[in-house]
Amino acid sequence: MRKQTLTNAERYITEELKDLENKILNADQKILRLESSLFDEVRKTLAGQTQALKTFARVAAQLDVYASLAQTAAQNGYVRPTVDDSDVLSYKGGRHPIVESTLPPGSFVPNDLSVNSTDNQIMLITGPNMGGKSVFLKQTAILVILAQMGSFVHLYGGNERNGPYFSFHDAKKPYLAGRSGPRHLYL
Ligand SMILES: Nc1ncnc2c1ncn2[C@@H]1O[C@H](COP(=O)(O)OP(=O)(O)O)[C@@H](O)[C@H]1O
Ligand SMILES: [Mg+2]
Repeated sequence: MRKQTLTNAERYITEELKDLENKILNADQKILRLESSLFDEVRKTLAGQTQALKTFARVAAQLDVYASLAQTAAQNGYVRPTVDDSDVLSYKGGRHPIVESTLPPGSFVPNDLSVNSTDNQIMLITGPNMGGKSVFLKQTAILVILAQMGSFVHLYGGNERNGPYFSFHDAKKPYLAGRSGPRHLYL
């Protein structure tokens, strides 16, 4: 079959080659059609399972949280806090996990805290700029929140007491003071 005449050459093509050419040229479109129809099918199947998918996503997210807390606790030697009904918030060897991780190993100075709502209710921290005041407050907040979440906490040593269910308030917001109860922790 003659295909094209050039100045000094003739081009020929066979029926078979023509078919092959068509096949190759149309392959892209065929792939796209196939792909989008498969994708449609997947979408339809999934659309019928949204409830199950949502449940799975929620469970997977929860597992992720628990597994991450467990891994962090295991890797960093966290200890199990005691959360009870007393009015005591007390810990020994407290550290700030993030600040500590940015410092050379062993250079973070652990701190203790012991307060309660009867005879040791208010503590005032003073010290020079960059003395570690804010870090101490934040580490206390993180400890209490983690303990209340049911997580292990970043203390040196074991079996520390981490107080009852405290609720947190920002001491810089004085309007909250009127509403405080024996288990409100102001930082
Ligand atoms: N317990 C600690 N041990 C070692 N370094 C600390 C400790 N607490 C704080 N630091 C370091 O000192 C810096 C300043 O602490 P920060 O609490 O912000 O000071 P302040 O609030 O007293 O000005 C932190 O960024 C950290 O690098
Ligand atoms: Mg500060």
